[in-house]
Amino acid sequence: MNLKSDPHSFYEQGQPKIEGLVWAFELDFAAQVLTGSVRYVFDAPGETYLDTRDLTINSVSTQGGNDIPYELGDIEELRGARLSFDVPDDHVVIIEYTTDPGAHGIQWMSPEIAGGKPFVYTQGEAINARTYIPCQDTPSVKFTMEARVTVPEGIRGLVAAAEYKGRTPDNDNVIETWAMEFPVPSYLIAFAVGDVVEAPISLRSSIWAQPHMLERAVDEFNDLPRLIEAGERLFGPYPFGRYSILVMPDAFPYGGMENPCLSFLTPALVAGDGSGISTVAHELAHSWTGNLVTNADWSSFWLNEGWTVWAEDRIIEAVYGRDTAMLGRKLLEREFEEDLAYFKRRDQMQYTALAPDVSDIDPDDVFSRVPYFKGAQFLTLIEETVGRERFDAFALSYISAYGYESIDTRTFLDYLRAELGDEVFKAVRAREWVYHSGYPDNAPAIVSSLVDEVEEAANKLFIPHKGMSWTKPQWQLYLELLPEQGLFDQLKLIDYSWSLSKDPNLEVRWSFLVRAVKAGLYDVYAKEVEELLRTQGRMKYLKPLYGALCEAPEGHLEAQRIFTDAMKTYHPVAVAAVERVLCDS
Ligand code: BES
Ligand code: ZN
Repeated sequence: MNLKSDPHSFYEQGQPKIEGLVWAFELDFAAQVLTGSVRYVFDAPGETYLDTRDLTINSVSTQGGNDIPYELGDIEELRGARLSFDVPDDHVVIIEYTTDPGAHGIQWMSPEIAGGKPFVYTQGEAINARTYIPCQDTPSVKFTMEARVTVPEGIRGLVAAAEYKGRTPDNDNVIETWAMEFPVPSYLIAFAVGDVVEAPISLRSSIWAQPHMLERAVDEFNDLPRLIEAGERLFGPYPFGRYSILVMPDAFPYGGMENPCLSFLTPALVAGDGSGISTVAHELAHSWTGNLVTNADWSSFWLNEGWTVWAEDRIIEAVYGRDTAMLGRKLLEREFEEDLAYFKRRDQMQYTALAPDVSDIDPDDVFSRVPYFKGAQFLTLIEETVGRERFDAFALSYISAYGYESIDTRTFLDYLRAELGDEVFKAVRAREWVYHSGYPDNAPAIVSSLVDEVEEAANKLFIPHKGMSWTKPQWQLYLELLPEQGLFDQLKLIDYSWSLSKDPNLEVRWSFLVRAVKAGLYDVYAKEVEELLRTQGRMKYLKPLYGALCEAPEGHLEAQRIFTDAMKTYHPVAVAAVERVLCDS
């Protein structure tokens, strides 16, 4: 396979690539600096390039300790600074470096913000791994890893890796060692250091969380082993040995992140009502679609997320039934529709293509549900066209054909045509789905009796009466489906009966508050809005809520006031995302 060079990386195809690395680092919490040393083994000698951003390179040397001449290029806005050197004949290079306190891929949390002891963790996807480790920061290169993290006594150092090799004392500190024997791309390099404890729930899975969270998290996610088994029946044996979950502090900017063998999840999923399990299914499904078969560059991001939403829904269907799976798809459709409207308003419809050209921007800047929802709907359309049996066989063969590799959209389309035939390729209008903007008119219908019940109520502006037994996702959909205009009295009435503005389920509470602010009720719910914005770091909640607030009378000032203070608890990527919202309005 001939891959093009990834526009978000300095690495050029054909150069020596990283095969494996050993990463040793320690953390200075006060200075918010990571000091690291990496021993790389490349696949060949010769000139090569690594990506860095805001890193100080202290030395580049051979394993014998001799300096290797290197050059750190000028800073580019998109890619950072290129580190170039010649890999010696034994293929081994050692780099010592330190990070910057402002590194985009690291969130440092003081004890007050983390609740108890300090907490620090990384988020590599899409192009931020280079802010905490010099590497070929492109998903087209995969390598194995050993990580040795030095932490103070009483604090754990977790690395997203298959094998825990134990702890060794080092003066007042402890060194925890982890090994990832399966090759993965740089955006999946991740660690979390903090006061976390472990509850094993099966031979291959544990739940990790801060102590106050652990018991509730175990209850919430106790179906995990069933999900893994369902995934294995559909997509083949779980490929990476262990699969565990780490429940993050509130500031975590995503719902979940599929770090290998250890998915990071927002604590908002631990709501006590079982609704968080679909996000677990999503991150687990990435083990096959994303971590095993990986998008080769960020224009093909839909190969990761579209396939994963499709796979998530199949796992949910296998364990909880089709109606539940399609309720989730319907909720995602609502987010997708908001994103379509957003891109339309900004005259940026090119980002509604499944495989858009993102080569001149940071992919995070145009993050949306397009690759997720449109991608999954495209795959469901093919599934419905060829029949489930044939499509399942296709999915399985796709995963085994490209496992441990990285592929781009073209490779996928060629494979699709070769396996399922030209007729199917044309019948589903594959090119239009992938390369055109907007939403094709042959999209499959989303059918679920759980959706029907809610749709009927929302269309009739019916206020659910006491005694109705909707699930939390149904409640959320109900709110999402209410018209945006003229809800002033309706929402107050609903809240009077159901207290949605204080609902323990954050999806429901957030949906309600966004609606309420849009309906002109900010005055009534100012306290709840501010509380959510101050305690949550998930961008999915922050962006629409700040956006709605900015439109309210005097709301922009309020948004600014809250943000100025709350931003110290947000992850750097969330700060940037909210700043964009505030500037836009
Ligand atoms: N890989 C993503 C998170 C991500 C994407 C981080 C792009 C950085 C850049 C993760 O698997 C994901 O999709 N999370 C979703 C979960 C949802 C679809 C169930 C999220 O956080 O909203
Ligand atoms: Zn995902």
